[in-house]
Amino acid sequence: MTQPAKPEPVNLSDFEAAARERLSPTAYDYYASGAGDEITLRENHAAFDRIQLLPRVLVDVSHRDLSTTVLSRPTAMPVMIAPTAFHRLACPEGELATARAAAEMGIVMVLSTLSNVPLEEVAQVGPSPRWFQLYIYRDRGVTRSLVERAEASGYQALCVTVDAPLLGRRERDVRNRFSLPPDLAVANLLHYLPKESQAEAPQSALNAYFARLMDQSVTWDDLDWLRGITSLPVVPKGIHHPEDARLAVEHGVPAIVVSNHGGRQLDTAPATIDLLPAIADAVQGRAEILLDGGVRRGTDVIKALALGARAVLIGRPVLWGLAVDGQRGAERVLRLLQKEIDLAMALCGLTKVSDITSDLARWPH
Ligand SMILES: Cc1cc2nc3c(=O)[nH]c(=O)nc-3n(C[C@H](O)[C@H](O)[C@H](O)COP(=O)(O)O)c2cc1C
Repeated sequence: MTQPAKPEPVNLSDFEAAARERLSPTAYDYYASGAGDEITLRENHAAFDRIQLLPRVLVDVSHRDLSTTVLSRPTAMPVMIAPTAFHRLACPEGELATARAAAEMGIVMVLSTLSNVPLEEVAQVGPSPRWFQLYIYRDRGVTRSLVERAEASGYQALCVTVDAPLLGRRERDVRNRFSLPPDLAVANLLHYLPKESQAEAPQSALNAYFARLMDQSVTWDDLDWLRGITSLPVVPKGIHHPEDARLAVEHGVPAIVVSNHGGRQLDTAPATIDLLPAIADAVQGRAEILLDGGVRRGTDVIKALALGARAVLIGRPVLWGLAVDGQRGAERVLRLLQKEIDLAMALCGLTKVSDITSDLARWPH
């Protein structure tokens, strides 16, 4: 007897459930997990749910436009793809599939340093807005070299992750003894390994090498150093405190990403959406504010924009899409979100992104 066909995913949570059936438990946990008790991970979602949208009516919403700009460049909607590691755990094409989906959708992809496909190959997918995420490594020569490679390959901005002097402890990964399968590489860093270890055991050599690369001493001076060695915009990712947002602006960055790394770093850090009003107040329009963490609905996007974000980034949902159906799956996730934003805009009485104002979002008393 044939099995009844599984229903199509109709929202981003359905995609997670479908991806879970396809991924190994270890890979699913690596993508899904947060640090410690996963309190921040849960809060990122719960905080969006606590916010209400207050719609306007009797507005002509027959023509709607989701396009906007980020760092003065056009994007089809106020959504970007967050940098996440190891896309080949989800599908064989890895980051190439993600880059093609982003290009198809006309949105920015932020490529992680920890990609399985080298940044140069991802760039060959063709012209599309693309940023490169990096850390400031202990070996500044490696950092500089990655910056030069990203510039030479046409990446348009550098997203420097500032919330990871050390990696948070994700206990699911500890229990599963997570490590990258031997046939997958941290492709961007292979360059810097001695030739002998590349040939012998690239994977284990690389794990140890990456752990040694992390620098616990990075400060604002190093951010200045990074700005000094590149002509690309430098965008710090992982800002939580309004005072750090103010400092970032004083250090001349054109944008910041309010992020708690999807709940993977400091557990019990607040949900990013709850931090946004105070950060917007500190920034005072002097830099663009991007936000990630728990964005799963079109209404979440509207809430983030109402509270001061220029655009949002999504991390895990893209991985779920890749696991379900490679490039097509990632595109389906993005199209679902696009449709939800469009519907939410119409129901809020909005026709364009610049109509989204702070009076739309409220917390019930
Ligand atoms: C599996 C996974 C890997 C990640 N890898 C990176 C990374 O390499 N660099 C980085 O800056 N952030 C990384 N992040 C954090 C994301 O950029 C982003 O902040 C987070 O996923 C947003 O939350 P969301 O998944 O709820 O959308 C990773 C997140 C996940 C889930």
